[in-house]
Amino acid sequence: MQSKRLIEFQLTHSSQQHMTSNSEPAEGSTKSSPSPCSKPLGALSGDQREYVITHPETPTPWMNYISNPLGFCGIVSQTAGGFCFYRDPRDYRITKYRYNGVPVDRPGRYFYIRNRRTKKTWSPTWQPTQVPLDGYQCRHGQGYTIIDSRLGSVATRSTFLVPLDANCEVWSLRVENLSDQKLELDIFEYCEFTLWCEPESRNIQWSLHLPKAEFDDASRLIIYHRVEKHPAFDPAANADYRPEDDSFAFLGASLPVAGFDCDRDRFLGLYRSETNPVGVERGRLSGSILRGGVPCAALQHEMILKAGDSATLNVVLGYAEKPADAAALRDRFKDSSQVEAARLEIRKYWDQYLSAYHVESPDPTLDAMVNVWNAYQCKTTFDWSRYISFYENGEGRGMGTRDSAQDLLAVVCQLGKRSKNRIRELVSAVHFPEGDCHHIYYPITGSGHMRGFSDDHLWLIPMVASWVEETGDLSFLDESIAYVGGKREPLFDHLRRAVDFTAGKLGEHGFPLIGVADWNDTLHLWMEYPRGESILTAEFYVYALRRLAALARAMGRAADAAGFNQRAQAMADRINADAWDGQWYLRAFSPGPMGSHRDEVARIFLNTQTWAILSGVAAPERAEMILDQVDCQLGSPFGCKVEYPPFTKYNNRYGLISRYNVGHKENGVFSHANAWAVAANAILGRGDRAMEIYRQVCPLYRNDNPEIAGTEPYVFCQTLNSDDAHTPGQGANSWLTGTASWMFVAITQYVLGIRSSMDGLIIDPKIPASWSGFTFSRMFRETRYDITVGRGGQPGLRVDGLATAGNLVRPAPGPVCRVELRIS
Ligand code: GLC
Repeated sequence: MQSKRLIEFQLTHSSQQHMTSNSEPAEGSTKSSPSPCSKPLGALSGDQREYVITHPETPTPWMNYISNPLGFCGIVSQTAGGFCFYRDPRDYRITKYRYNGVPVDRPGRYFYIRNRRTKKTWSPTWQPTQVPLDGYQCRHGQGYTIIDSRLGSVATRSTFLVPLDANCEVWSLRVENLSDQKLELDIFEYCEFTLWCEPESRNIQWSLHLPKAEFDDASRLIIYHRVEKHPAFDPAANADYRPEDDSFAFLGASLPVAGFDCDRDRFLGLYRSETNPVGVERGRLSGSILRGGVPCAALQHEMILKAGDSATLNVVLGYAEKPADAAALRDRFKDSSQVEAARLEIRKYWDQYLSAYHVESPDPTLDAMVNVWNAYQCKTTFDWSRYISFYENGEGRGMGTRDSAQDLLAVVCQLGKRSKNRIRELVSAVHFPEGDCHHIYYPITGSGHMRGFSDDHLWLIPMVASWVEETGDLSFLDESIAYVGGKREPLFDHLRRAVDFTAGKLGEHGFPLIGVADWNDTLHLWMEYPRGESILTAEFYVYALRRLAALARAMGRAADAAGFNQRAQAMADRINADAWDGQWYLRAFSPGPMGSHRDEVARIFLNTQTWAILSGVAAPERAEMILDQVDCQLGSPFGCKVEYPPFTKYNNRYGLISRYNVGHKENGVFSHANAWAVAANAILGRGDRAMEIYRQVCPLYRNDNPEIAGTEPYVFCQTLNSDDAHTPGQGANSWLTGTASWMFVAITQYVLGIRSSMDGLIIDPKIPASWSGFTFSRMFRETRYDITVGRGGQPGLRVDGLATAGNLVRPAPGPVCRVELRIS
């Protein structure tokens, strides 16, 4: 029998083992400390391509994104929780997710298995029945999730993926009878639908009358009709209204249908939940259709397994515009070899994406992040900005302008063509001829919202500069792109207008007006003073001008380049003269200085120190001094704090930032801002400190203590509570954070030091003293560069064997270029 097993995995963990408490404060302590017996709840697979979770009750749901280039996207947890949508989670949401509900992480894409003889019922993914399993393992890979489990003599494998070429999720449940008895099972699959684009709770006296779902006898599919948003109930939606849309969602299966329900309340039972649906308990679904109420898709199948036998049920949950397309998709995936083929295609797609970079360093954790997990997260933030995750409900945030511009920085090499299209899409959706930008836009409609941030428009410059420097294609700067409102101009002029806008909005001290906010969304100076000035935006303006000058120079526009550089220098001088506090840079004026040694709270801010270095504003002596101050005032075991001392009570002069609990969010450790600290340390040659901050923030180094952060060990989270917080080190808001792209940039471009420029690849490593060297391979303009950096021997650079002065490798003609750098 053993040899016949289809499902092979180590059943090392019973599902009820080794959960540890993490919330009880030690006696006499005011802080909650993580349990000392915290144990790993998973690990990377041997090839690092999967994160293998060995216990279903993780401290927060540990999520994965399964999506395709068509825009069909599912978010799936380690117990099959989560939901899916098509292209835009606000407008084409398909399945329901109850944010912040109890129990957490409901609903999902669920299977129920019921033994007809014993009536024993369980979920092969642990949720939602939570019946203890004898074996459990979840493997999150790039673009798929596989959950293996065993209960008694029934072993299962549940695979969830989104094929690259189809608007659907495929759920595949393989069941194996390990016993020597015949097994008679009822299998059910279930998901709850949403009201497409209406948050149904907003106006339920109305919205519950809209949904329609039924089982279509001819196609054997559950059909859930689209409900179009109506402007009467959402005036802001007027522009996006598409009354002609008659698409639908559907669910169908490979096995004959023995029963169905389309009405959630009939399937679950009104006073029950997904844990114990009445339909499953009864062993018979009610055959409900839905005209008003809460729609769901539940199908029932019979599965009879002889001793040692196995069988597979494949389910397709999708979106379609024509009934025939839906049936065709279901039919395609009736065949399990098609599911496997889709999985292999997904694998190939990710092999290709991940092959752009490869590092081998003395630090295998860093390698796993750069080679797989950080790169994977960067693609996910590129796709979804800050729109939709376990923490972002996808109803209103859209694609962020500054967010998307930063997300692009880490994928220009891997996704050259897509990132070019993204630049076009973003610029035309958000950029005004006046030079400023909308703060967000929605992907399907391209409509933007919110104006008045002091930095959004400036982010267009590093975004475009990174793309041009990566590809060497200056002609993009001449491409005519529309502004909001339709007027068109070459891309270069868009960028010029961005800096001109800032130049025209200076306050009393000559620094940029902060407007609604700068990078730090919650620093709301306008609460008390309408003309607050941001030193961070001033530094960022210097940075943007210098990058624009480099582009102008490459275009042969020497006078423009000189002009931009002069303006940069003038602002840098002003910062150094008027925003220097003696040992560090101020944060703002509102109207008096903020972030000064005279302040009782928030006397020093991280961002104006790191950006003083990234922008080149700080001369070497000051640069050393400010990083020393960052280390001694802002350093913590969980990374650098945004400011110190933290706000302990609301302060209207600062706004929302002061309302967070002590040590939380922008009043604690913001991971994204730590990536700039990593880069700034590297720029000053402080490789050890750069890596120390990286290790403090990077989740994989905390793998053995998962209870402290609580969030996924394989992706960065937006914030970690600082050591001033009640729960130090606790993570929040994982997956969708600018930390992903900036940490990737900080490590690859500043610590490993390999970055693209118009003239070629710069090799400028700032590695820790203990490292003997590393190898790095990356694509750059059609050539693969195999770079070896090592210590000892004659310092210097060799390109394809030839000694080369400086640290620039000019674009090579052939397919491969070998680079060797010896450092002392
Ligand atoms: C969030 C926002 C980002 C902002 C940051 C700091 O991550 O998405 O745009 O810069 O918070 O406030």
